[in-house]
Amino acid sequence: MWGTFPLKRFLHLFHSLSNVLDIVEVLYAARTISVSRGSSVTLPCNASYNLNRCGLVHVVWLQNNVELVDPDRYLTTVSEIHKGGNTRHRQVLTEILKVGANDTGAFQCKAECGSGESAKGHTININVQGKALIKIQSNQQVSFLYLYM
Ligand SMILES: *[C@@H]1O[C@H](CO)[C@@H](O)[C@H](O)[C@H]1NC(C)=O
Ligand SMILES: *[C@@H]1O[C@H](CO)[C@@H](O)[C@H](O)[C@H]1NC(C)=O
Repeated sequence: MWGTFPLKRFLHLFHSLSNVLDIVEVLYAARTISVSRGSSVTLPCNASYNLNRCGLVHVVWLQNNVELVDPDRYLTTVSEIHKGGNTRHRQVLTEILKVGANDTGAFQCKAECGSGESAKGHTININVQGKALIKIQSNQQVSFLYLYM
């Protein structure tokens, strides 16, 4: 019945139909990245937020819920686009400078509003592939084999 249709659901429907950004959202594709030890990899995050309702926003990449902020290991570049209205787009690129074995894992970008609301993006899995040196000895002959894991 119309009279019992919850107002909240009606407003939600209205917002999705009119394509109004509620408060904050985080956008990028979920994927798995394979990278070799010693090289670098960049994590791209796009957050859109409503300045009025979100307030000051903090956007950051996380590995297992820990923020990637160590300047010796990560380089983060932030840019913001404002195309009028209240909607703002922030792009946060975090480069893992020299990938090591402990960079294998699940990464997620989080946007936290001054108002307390927050949003997280998809999980990006990083797979670090390293070289291991194996020595094979047979008949006085020594040979080496590089194994890619
Ligand atoms: C993020 O936004 C920028 C600028 O609008 C766009 O060029 C880029 O492709 C977007 N990246 C992702 C991962 O969505
Ligand atoms: C990963 O290893 C580096 C040194 O190679 C160390 O500084 C860092 O604390 C380690 N990070 C984690 C999450 O274990």
